[in-house]
Amino acid sequence: MLEDNFGRRFHYLRLSITEACNFRCQYCLPDGYAGPSDAHFLSLKEIETLVTGFAGLGTSKIRITGGEPSLRRDFSEIIQLCKSTPGIRRIATTTHGGRLAKYAGKWKDAGLDQVNVSIDSLDPHQFAAITGQDKLQDVLKGLDVAVEQGLDVKVNTVLLQDFSPNRLQRFLTWLKDTPVTLRFIELMQTGDHARFFEAQHLSGEPLKQQLIEAGWQPLLRRKDAGPAQEFYHPDYAGRIGLIMPYSKDFCKSCNRLRVAANGRLHLCLFSEQGIDVRSYLQKQDVKGLQAFLHEALAGKHATHYLKEGQTGATRHLAMLGG
Ligand code: GTP
Ligand code: 5AD
Ligand code: SF4
Repeated sequence: MLEDNFGRRFHYLRLSITEACNFRCQYCLPDGYAGPSDAHFLSLKEIETLVTGFAGLGTSKIRITGGEPSLRRDFSEIIQLCKSTPGIRRIATTTHGGRLAKYAGKWKDAGLDQVNVSIDSLDPHQFAAITGQDKLQDVLKGLDVAVEQGLDVKVNTVLLQDFSPNRLQRFLTWLKDTPVTLRFIELMQTGDHARFFEAQHLSGEPLKQQLIEAGWQPLLRRKDAGPAQEFYHPDYAGRIGLIMPYSKDFCKSCNRLRVAANGRLHLCLFSEQGIDVRSYLQKQDVKGLQAFLHEALAGKHATHYLKEGQTGATRHLAMLGG
């Protein structure tokens, strides 16, 4: 079992398999991706050693992230590999959703259980303005297919200053009949986007009060809950979650570790450079990796640096998958 000095246990690995993305979200990769190609990122064999090592230490859930994970040609094989590793019970992914309509069935067959999809606006023009891709209809179609396939679906919406009452209303109307959990996420400061952050960051607190006044009720937090605080409303098929790293300290219940596509272990989303574990993966040294992980965990801090307005080495979230 992986446990840190604060008694937190880590059964959840967020594994980024590529930094590449073909969307250009304003808060992430506004100029598009211009980094290395997939050949530079962890290979299937390296991933196998990594996942075997983590699973042997109690990891039971893996979220495959990016960049955009579905851009990797071997994405289905990666899902399959993770799911067939003894000890791994749940496979999730976080995607922009542009390929869901076509591939949700294939990914489900490979072993995918959960999918989180980014939708920052339900207005097609605004969606295109934020993401650089005029693909709202494709993404919504993809969501329907994912729900039909029986995948557990959540939607991510980053809160920005220009989040208007109209935009919120559109989401609420949609949630009446759509059985997904929609999470509003406070924009997090990353190294590349300090000015964007200053101009666009919006606290989730007023939205939370607004929802409570409109009859949304907080759900009891499950023991294995992530950063989202969730709400339900008897008149709505969907739920709402709030991810507020600035307003609410969820680090006490942190249950996740991250490995970036370049093979660096990150003890926190906003930790420093990350620690290289790729040499163990290249040597297929599961035992060595496991011994190193135990040691490395002693360096995990109690909380993230966001409150001090620092970003560590995280330039943008596509670097390590959020
Ligand atoms: P599940 O709990 O598995 O559903 O995942 P999630 O909601 O954490 O996953 P997702 O990839 O959809 O991330 C949603 C948002 O939460 C993203 O903006 C992430 O960057 C953010 N997030 C996830 N984990 C953490 C964390 O440990 N710290 C902070 N500050 N943000 C996080
Ligand atoms: N702050 C908050 N959320 C972000 N995401 C990407 N960059 C940021 C940021 N700076 C979100 C994406 C995606 C999830 C992985 O993280 O919209 O849904
Ligand atoms: Fe791509 Fe996700 Fe970054 Fe948007 S937030 S540019 S979809 S990696």
